[in-house]
Amino acid sequence: MKPTFYVTTPIYYVNDVPHIGHAYTTVAGDVLARYKRLMGYDVYFLTGSDEHGQKVEKAATTAGETPLELADRVVKRFQALWGRLGISHNDFIRTTQERHKNGVSRIFENILEKGDIYLGEYEDWYCTPCETFWTETQLIEGRCPDCNRPVEKLKEESYFFRMSKYQGELLSYIEANPDFIQPKSKRNEIISFINEGLRDLSVSRTTFSWGIPVPGNNRHIIYVWFDALTNYITALGYPDETGNYGRYWPVDVHLIGKDILRFHAVYWPTFLMAAGLPLPKKVFAHGWWTVEGQKMSKSLMNVVEPNMLIDKYGVDAVRYFLLREVPFGLDGDFSHSALVQRINSDLANDIGNLLSRSTAMAVKYFNGILPSAGLLTETDHSLRHKTEAMVTIVDKFVDELAFSKALQAIWEVISAGNKYIDDMAPWTLAKDPANSGRLATVMYTLLESQRITHCILSAFLPATAAKALSSLGWNETLTKEGLVWGGLKDGAKITKAEALFPRIEE
Ligand code: MSP
Repeated sequence: MKPTFYVTTPIYYVNDVPHIGHAYTTVAGDVLARYKRLMGYDVYFLTGSDEHGQKVEKAATTAGETPLELADRVVKRFQALWGRLGISHNDFIRTTQERHKNGVSRIFENILEKGDIYLGEYEDWYCTPCETFWTETQLIEGRCPDCNRPVEKLKEESYFFRMSKYQGELLSYIEANPDFIQPKSKRNEIISFINEGLRDLSVSRTTFSWGIPVPGNNRHIIYVWFDALTNYITALGYPDETGNYGRYWPVDVHLIGKDILRFHAVYWPTFLMAAGLPLPKKVFAHGWWTVEGQKMSKSLMNVVEPNMLIDKYGVDAVRYFLLREVPFGLDGDFSHSALVQRINSDLANDIGNLLSRSTAMAVKYFNGILPSAGLLTETDHSLRHKTEAMVTIVDKFVDELAFSKALQAIWEVISAGNKYIDDMAPWTLAKDPANSGRLATVMYTLLESQRITHCILSAFLPATAAKALSSLGWNETLTKEGLVWGGLKDGAKITKAEALFPRIEE
């Protein structure tokens, strides 16, 4: 049986249209999912939409629609974008689906029956855009400490989750599992937050109606974060604990942005503890993108629309930039000039040129029929070893979610390939028929190194890798066996590759 791997993205609010922040997590999840499939895992990759709550209800009112009409309309934009970005999710969960609503009611009921959810009264400050309650002391100058927008005072009867009860157990889990919360700096923030003391959490609302009713008390709607977080198990069929739930839970990694770490590293694990369910193995919080040095916001009208980037630069250029430009876990800045720079140097120049030069030579010198290699010299061996070592290094970096380092390691082999051509000067060898054996070995080494490079790159840049592998005459299914040296067979049909990435003139 294949080992399993379950990876999730956040489920996105449907009151906003997709932007590069959403695309970022989803592309990262896709790379991980594709990579693990390549390595032989049985992967389940989940994404979806968060459709309940006051925020969506208000947006619908403003748009003159019902919340479900709004959700139906906006969810299509997310799904269409994931299609264009080549996202290979296995499932897309919408929180308005029956399977989800049913699972949320069950887990809520289960915790209620155990006594860890109880009815009480709430009075505090509420930030609607963040769907978060704050105490007086947490406010900064009377505003939301997260988004700096005005908050409103709410007093209501509310169900509470006994989160305080799980403080010790949660800390022990975090301590016993050093990799649970990543990156490290974020883990420390969460530990300090818990050490300040966990309060019981209000998990129902009575002031609006767009959500899942509390079982047995229709006046209350389940708190949108309780509802949303549960998607990670309802999508697996929970409360049915056989099937996908039994197969994939606990999740290998929840990929999220840093702003929603507390929900994933404090609320969610304590809900699971109360329900007696296993905890996630890892929660990884990535950083935020600014745009040309500024916070991305609707009011600044600088929201970067991924479809526009894809139209202009192509899917794989966007995927590459997002994961290469900024180490996963740190904040970064998006700018058109940085993107164009990456396209022209790393993509057009390095990888594109290498493939078009090498396939053109194979066509010119051998009519596109790959000759068999003779004995490798030290220089040939060196390229082979660099390629083989890269496969091991990339595996380690992808496991650490260090996508940028993984791409750098791949690009070192690409640079080595370009240097190898310059050093070997096949055009000089080609002048003398006596060198044809040597020329054959050089061509084989060059093309085989790129075949392996593109096999592994298929997780990152699937469309590019498919084009490259086809011009290398390699049409096999992508598996980890494909990453072993010697996959290209004599007689393979090489065709001259079109430019993988045209240069962008600014
Ligand atoms: N619906 C909740 C998540 C529930 S998960 C159980 C939510 N949705 S969201 O649509 O507002 O945001 C989703 C993700 O987008 C978050 O992980 C957030 O970090 C990410 N980003 C939003 N703006 C971003 C940037 N400018 N840069 C990077 N990621 C950003 O929160």
